[in-house]
Amino acid sequence: MRKNIVAGNWKMNNSHSEAVQLVGSIVNSIYDDAVQLIVIPPSIYASEIAKITSLSQIEVGVQNSSQYESGAYTGELSSSMIKSIGVQYVLVGHSERREYFDEQNVTLALKVNQLLNDGLTPIYCCGEILEEREKKNHFNIIKNQLEEGLFHLNDNQIQSCIIAYEPVWAIGTGVTASSNQAQEIHHFIRGLLVDKYGVAIAESISILYGGSCKPSNATELFANPDVDGGLIGGASLSAEDFIAIANSFS
Ligand code: PGA
Repeated sequence: MRKNIVAGNWKMNNSHSEAVQLVGSIVNSIYDDAVQLIVIPPSIYASEIAKITSLSQIEVGVQNSSQYESGAYTGELSSSMIKSIGVQYVLVGHSERREYFDEQNVTLALKVNQLLNDGLTPIYCCGEILEEREKKNHFNIIKNQLEEGLFHLNDNQIQSCIIAYEPVWAIGTGVTASSNQAQEIHHFIRGLLVDKYGVAIAESISILYGGSCKPSNATELFANPDVDGGLIGGASLSAEDFIAIANSFS
C-alpha cells in the first residue's frame, strides 16, 4: 500500500525564529498519524528542524541538492551532507528551480542518482505551464519530464521515489487544478509507471498534487484514487492550515 503524504515546501520564507516556531506548532498538533508529514524548510534551518522533529513522526526534507558528489562546487549541498543531518527527503526539479535556475531534466536525473546512492528519497516534481496546457501539450511535457529525469531508474530505485505533479499555473496563484484535472494527470502518470515498471510497482508509488492546495480544497483533491497527498507551498507556512490539510484524507 502506498503512503498518503503531506509535504510542506516553505520555499525561501521565514526567519530562523519563525521557522523554529512553525515546526514547534506542527509537532505539537494533533494529526492523522496514518499520513506521513514532511516539512521542507530552507536548508540552513534543516539541521535544527530535524532535531526538533526527531521525537515525532514528522520527517524533514530540503528543497534542492547538488548533482555532484563532493568537492569544489561553491554554494552547493551534497546528498551525503543532507543525509548526515538526519534529513531524508529532497525536492528535485521544482518548477521554480526549473524556471529561475534553468534546471534541465538531464541534470535532475543526476541529482536523483546522487540522492538514491545516499539512500535519500527524491520528491521529483513535474508539471506544465499554462501555455503548454492551452496548446494541449501538457501530457507530452509531463511524460518527457518523467522519462528524462526519472525513468532511467531500475525497478528497485523507482520505488524509493515520490512524484509530485504541480501544474505551474496553479502554484502560488490561488488557482487550483480542479479535482478532475488533478485526477486525470495523476492517472496518466500512474499509467506511465505501469507501462515502464508494471502494475505492482506503479501502485506502490505515491503521487502528490501541488498548486494552491489549501484546507478548503484538500478533501476533494485527496479523495481522488490516484492523488496520494499534497506538496503544499503557501498554506504550509501556517501550522493550522498545514495540519488541516493533513487531516483531509477521508
Ligand atoms: P503553493 O505552492 O501551494 O503556494 O501553490 C506549491 C509548491 O510550489 O510546492
